[in-house]
Order: sequence, then C-alpha cells, then structure tokens
Amino acid sequence: MSGRTLRIKVHRQDAGETEGRLEEYTVPHWEGIKILDALRYIQEEIDHSLAVRWSCRIEDCRTCQMLVNGKSMLSCQIPLEDGMVIEPIPRFRLIRDLVVEFGEKMDATEYSKNEFTDS
Ligand code: FES
Repeated sequence: MSGRTLRIKVHRQDAGETEGRLEEYTVPHWEGIKILDALRYIQEEIDHSLAVRWSCRIEDCRTCQMLVNGKSMLSCQIPLEDGMVIEPIPRFRLIRDLVVEFGEKMDATEYSKNEFTDS
C-alpha cells in the first residue's frame, strides 16, 4: 500500500427502498488498485453489508458492470481514482446497492469494452 487514501462515493439502497443514497468511503491506495478491489475492501474491512457482484475478474463475465461517474464500466478493469461515484447500472431491477438483475436483457445488450449501450 502506498500510504495514500482515496475517497469514493458508493450507491446504497435496499430493495424495499424507493430511493438510494451515496455513502462516502475512504479506502487505501495500492499499485494497480481497481474499482472492484476498493469495493471488496469496503465489504471486507468497513461494511460487510455492501452488496457487490463479480465473478471472473478477467473482463469476461460482465457481472461487475456498474456506473462510474455516470458511464457504464467493468469495475474489475478500471483503475480507482479519487472522487469516483459508483452506482448500479440503470434500466435493470435493483436487488441491493450495486447489484441488479441482468436477466435476459443483458444478452440483448451490445457491449463494447467499457461501455454498455442498447443494441
Ligand atoms: S468480474 Fe467478470 S468482467 Fe469483471
């Protein structure tokens, strides 16, 4: 770890809540840290209740997609930067926090490296 810390804002919302909120977290910086690493750090060290989903970490499964500063990205691939705002992908049913129900819609969605756009 470099001794630096980064502050990010993460969307929190339970399925039963009509509106979410952004919570700010301070996470340590280390060489090569990705957004997903920071979310896992929060989950393991700060708040076990944070819901975040991933699987492969090699840009294959797409389950780690989320909105980062308003743009859809794979959180396992994007370097973490100070001040990032991390939210769930819109247009899908929210399960909790950053986890959405992709279902069949994901298969019908065109995907380019870090963008998630309708086909
Ligand atoms: S975890 Fe599979 S693409 Fe990111």
